[in-house]
Amino acid sequence: MSKRIAVLLSGRGSNFQSILSASQSGTLGGDIALVISNRPGAGGLDIARDAGIETALIDHQAYSTREAFDADLAGALESQSPDLIVLAGFMRILTPEFTSRFAGRLMNIHPSLLPLYPGLHTHQRALDAGDLHAGATVHYVTGELDGGPPVLQAKVTVEPDDDADSLAARVLQLEHQIYPQAIAWHLSERLQFAAGRLTLDGIALPPRGRQWESEPE
Ligand code: GRF
Repeated sequence: MSKRIAVLLSGRGSNFQSILSASQSGTLGGDIALVISNRPGAGGLDIARDAGIETALIDHQAYSTREAFDADLAGALESQSPDLIVLAGFMRILTPEFTSRFAGRLMNIHPSLLPLYPGLHTHQRALDAGDLHAGATVHYVTGELDGGPPVLQAKVTVEPDDDADSLAARVLQLEHQIYPQAIAWHLSERLQFAAGRLTLDGIALPPRGRQWESEPE
C-alpha cells in the first residue's frame, strides 16, 4: 500500500506545494492524504483543494485550551492513519501529549541552522548576530520547541546587502529542496527516529543532521 502523509499548515503553503510536486512526480514515495489548517484563510488550503486533496479546517480560535485543540487535531489525523505528519509553516505550539503520541512520525522545517535560533524572527536574529551563514533545518518534532533531532540542513551565505526578506527568500528556495528529500527518506524507511535514536541507512546522523550539498543520492 502506498505511504500516506498528512500536512499541517497555517499560511501560504509554499513548502506544501514543493512536497505536493514531489508527490505528483513520484519522487516523494507517497501520497498526501490530508491537509489541515488552523487558519481559515491559509493559501495552502487552496493549493490542496485545487489538487483534489482532502482538507480540514480546525480553527484554534474555537478552542479554549491547547489540549482540546490538539485532541481534535490528533483525532482528525488518526482517521487517516498517516505514515508521517508534516508541519509546513504550522504556527501552533503542540502539547507534549500530541508530540509523544506521534513521536517518530512528526517532522518540521525550521528556517535557521538549528540549534541556532529556535522560535521566531530567525533571519533577523542571524543578521543581528553578524552570522556568515543562514539556512534551514528539517527535524523530527519532540516536546521541545524546534528542539528535535536535525535530519537535513541547508546553508546559504549571508551577503553584505541582505535584509531579513532577501535572506528568507534564498533560504526558502532551499527549504523546497530539503523538505521533500527528508520526507522521501522517512517514507522509504531509510530514515528512522525511534527510542531517541536517529539513523539514515542504519547509521547515526551527526548532531546538525546531514548537510545538504546539492542532490544527495
Ligand atoms: C517557512 O519559512 C518554514 O521554514 C517555516 O514557516 C515558513 C512557511 O512557509 N516553518 P510556507 O507556508 O511553506 O510558504
